[in-house]
Amino acid sequence: MNLADTIRAIPDYPKPGIIFRDITTLLGNARAFRRTVDELVQPWAGGKIDKVAGIEARGFILGGAVAHQLSAGFVPIRKKGKLPHETVSMVYSLEYGVDEIEMHKDAILPGERVLLVDDLIATGGTASAAAKLIRQMGGELEAACFIVDLPALGGADKLRALNVAVRTLIAFEGE
Ligand code: PRP
Ligand code: MG
Repeated sequence: MNLADTIRAIPDYPKPGIIFRDITTLLGNARAFRRTVDELVQPWAGGKIDKVAGIEARGFILGGAVAHQLSAGFVPIRKKGKLPHETVSMVYSLEYGVDEIEMHKDAILPGERVLLVDDLIATGGTASAAAKLIRQMGGELEAACFIVDLPALGGADKLRALNVAVRTLIAFEGE
């Protein structure tokens, strides 16, 4: 099975000229979902990870499964205004305008080894902001992992420039 073939391409969504990579078809395919999680956890199977941080919303689906597999805790990184306790937050740029993500202040303790998980990296704005939050709380960011990389948008390079190890399973070139 080729994992890339289980991801549905939707032309001109959400706007003309964009090909949307729809991972719901991968998630709905039992073998593809299991293989994805197995491949994401493989480098850390020795038990080195204390916390898996997943980015709302699609990063929650993978992050929960990865945390379970690694016997690690799960930390939700959420869009602004969703977390009930004291938070730290980070503003990041979108194509048009800005957005903000938050994490509970006590979700990561100094020295904890953290794996950041999301479904896809495009410009890297979201993941870079998440990486900064994790480090701000004293977490040791072991790596950031994603199913899909869109290398033309430069996100993985942006994370590497912050000294974050990046692991991606599939690259769709030229988008
Ligand atoms: C998508 C994707 C990543 C992010 C990547 O999430 O799931 O989280 O964009 O983009 P970037 O690398 O340019 O920052 P989105 O914010 O669309 O929301 P969702 O996961 O809640 O659907
Ligand atoms: Mg997302």
